[in-house]
Amino acid sequence: MMGSMMGGPPPKQLYPQLMELPAMTPEARAKIEADAHGRINAGNAALVQAYDDYHRAMTSNDTAAMSAAASRQHAALAELESGTAALRALAEGQAPRQVALTWFRDQMNLAPAEVPAAGPVGPLGLSWFHFISMTAVTLFALTMAAFAASRRRRSIALVNRLTSAAPAPAPHPVGQPTSAPPPAPPRTAEVTALPRIAPPNSNTWSGAMRITAIHRETPHVKTFRLAASDEARIPFTFAPGQFLTFSATVDGKTLRRSYSIASPPTRTSYVEITVKREDDGEFSRYLHDRMSVGDTLQVRGPSGAFTFDGGNADSIVLIAGGVGITPMMCVIRYLTDTTWPGEIFLVCAIRSPEEFIFREELEYLQRRWPKLHVAAAVAARSEGTAWMGLEGQLSKDAIVHAVPGIEKRRIHLCGPPPMMEAIRRVLAELGVPSDQIKTEAFGPAMGLVPPPRPSPPPSPPASVTQLLRRVEGDTAPAGRPPEGDAGPATATLSFARSGKAASLPPDKTVLEVAEKLGVPIDYSCRVGTCGFCKIRLLAGQVTMEVQDALTDEDKASGIILACQARSLGNVTVDA
Ligand SMILES: Cc1cc2nc3c(=O)[nH]c(=O)nc-3n(C[C@H](O)[C@H](O)[C@H](O)COP(=O)(O)OP(=O)(O)OC[C@H]3O[C@@H](n4cnc5c(N)ncnc54)[C@H](O)[C@@H]3O)c2cc1C
Ligand code: FES
Repeated sequence: MMGSMMGGPPPKQLYPQLMELPAMTPEARAKIEADAHGRINAGNAALVQAYDDYHRAMTSNDTAAMSAAASRQHAALAELESGTAALRALAEGQAPRQVALTWFRDQMNLAPAEVPAAGPVGPLGLSWFHFISMTAVTLFALTMAAFAASRRRRSIALVNRLTSAAPAPAPHPVGQPTSAPPPAPPRTAEVTALPRIAPPNSNTWSGAMRITAIHRETPHVKTFRLAASDEARIPFTFAPGQFLTFSATVDGKTLRRSYSIASPPTRTSYVEITVKREDDGEFSRYLHDRMSVGDTLQVRGPSGAFTFDGGNADSIVLIAGGVGITPMMCVIRYLTDTTWPGEIFLVCAIRSPEEFIFREELEYLQRRWPKLHVAAAVAARSEGTAWMGLEGQLSKDAIVHAVPGIEKRRIHLCGPPPMMEAIRRVLAELGVPSDQIKTEAFGPAMGLVPPPRPSPPPSPPASVTQLLRRVEGDTAPAGRPPEGDAGPATATLSFARSGKAASLPPDKTVLEVAEKLGVPIDYSCRVGTCGFCKIRLLAGQVTMEVQDALTDEDKASGIILACQARSLGNVTVDA
């Protein structure tokens, strides 16, 4: 049956044929040789196919298909060996019956019988033609058999590991300090065999930086200048548009937040971050209300791929919502510091003129750099404030007017997620290809995936400035569903290394559930761009709204971003 599935003759037919042949006629030898070659080819093809099937089954964690593929590997190997044994017997000049007996002895593990050799003609009693052709065939067959045996050994080892329940020592969780308490023993030995995940960025630095100056930019925004505690230069290099991650223990709770570097890499003795104080925000209030010049902050970075240094483009369009102007300012400062010859378009959506961060500096730079074009739309202007720019929505018309030929230009977009969605729609309407747009969201990514409930009826489209107000204003932040709106938990999330499991509600990420259970997973940005939360998916499927931090290699080897991963089905991760 196996032989017919593989397209070759069934293994049992060759040997009875041989037993019936009274003597070795040339026709009989040619037929046996042809059959044996057919068997080797078919066995080899089937072995390769079964090997591939095995790996596919492993990837989808289909254990039934894995064992089917493993037994097909056995059968294919037997076919390969039978063909090889027949050729070998012929090469040794055995009579047909003897060929068959040799094969049976092989199969039954019996000692070989003494066989009288045929008349000596060449080396080892063979003709030269037979000696050379049989040596080549035997070498080929042995190589194939060794190859197949090694594959088989690896497959069997994998099956054993997957089915074994024996615990084995676990490596430290990815990204965790070696001083962390030892994790619980893994439930499967397979977990221990997985290679470590590469660090997200080899240029990452971490340490303390001192606040050397604080400037108020607007009523709610301050700039913090930071320098290395004991060196004249900052201890890392960065690209314009990257961010740093800060951590602090605030009222007994360790907090971690990311802030774009607003100062350009051309200024090497300090970095600046510009932070909007959120009324209920834990970290931004800590920075605004408790930090003074001379205090130190724990910093890690730089991270992020939302960068532009002027390469491969003759113009750049920077579209920012509110405090999303910070990475744009870094780019503008860098491009003007380095006298970049291209055109720079900055388009901002802001709530009111007094909240226009960096307004004076942009006016100053515009006077100096005719190729810097700044357009800003304010949602509302309070009485008595001067404003010469756009009022109301940052509409499609306003964007077309501010950036002629936008569809051919490279665009960077940063701000609150709903504002970015609205701008993305406008850009699509304007015919801008999506691969020309680079984005960075300040805040939790929008919960577009997966839809656990029937979607509500479509609401009328909101303007960008309305959305900006919604996010920056007094309502709950984008992407963070109101408490109690978690929806039904449809799946179970298992942490193989920690031996813990919990339900995974559709609107929660793997990282959020891990934090609740106390499973250590490193993180930084929480928006899919830094890569610190990379973990390996062992079973199940996840959706990730943003996967900027994953390389093609990561994706191919089942690495996911815990801060983005959500699922409606059961999932097992290596954490
Ligand atoms: C790559 C990156 C770069 C960034 N760069 C900057 C930057 O340059 N400048 C900047 O100002 N910000 C930046 N951010 C945003 C920043 O990281 C913080 O998210 C921001 O400062 C708010 O943090 P927080 O601790 O003050 O607020 P959080 O405590 O995290 O709260 C955020 C908001 O949610 C509300 N909130 C908190 N808890 C709840 C709850 N349970 N229910 C409903 N609402 C709640 C708070 O009122 C607050 O308005 C960046 C973010 C990323 C990912
Ligand atoms: S925490 Fe940065 S990518 Fe997940």
